[in-house]
Amino acid sequence: MLARALARHLRAGDVVALVGPLGAGKTCFASGLAEALGVEGRVASPSFVVARFHDGPTPLVHADAYRLSGAEDLLDAGLDDWLRVAVVAVEWADLAEEALPADRLTVALATDGGGRRIELTATGPRSLRALEALEHDSSGHRDLEPTS
Ligand SMILES: Nc1ncnc2c1ncn2[C@@H]1O[C@H](COP(=O)(O)OP(=O)(O)OP(=O)(O)O)[C@@H](O)[C@H]1O
Ligand SMILES: [Mg+2]
Repeated sequence: MLARALARHLRAGDVVALVGPLGAGKTCFASGLAEALGVEGRVASPSFVVARFHDGPTPLVHADAYRLSGAEDLLDAGLDDWLRVAVVAVEWADLAEEALPADRLTVALATDGGGRRIELTATGPRSLRALEALEHDSSGHRDLEPTS
């Protein structure tokens, strides 16, 4: 699973921006990250809270911008503090872009006919490092970037 492979290369301060329509698999991806990071608790749809903090060797904050009234809420909830200690995964990240660091790994999920598509985009040195490490893992094994 891509999320598990990616998790091995994530460090505190990394931001994973999960985008894609309803039911595309954003929560599922966050759950895969949580499992691979070995954090406490189970990832659920953070429907009634802005974010959940999962403690662990590398903690994970799982946030859902769909529930926020704007980027401000994410900052008020403590984004800056989280970034010091945790990997931060944000569902519907496109709705809170202004609150997020420019350097983030965007995971675009799409359902496509019967299939699923994942596209990863890095927008800075930090996210690029994680993406390149992931690509290095799999070079020669499989194509991580299906044609779009
Ligand atoms: N890679 C996958 N392969 C097969 N099924 C998947 C995959 N990812 C997600 N699903 C299934 O699709 C459904 C929706 O997934 P999920 O809740 O992760 O979507 P979401 O993008 O978080 O939705 P929302 O926009 O409501 O937050 C779930 O039933 C889940 O089991
Ligand atoms: Mg979800």
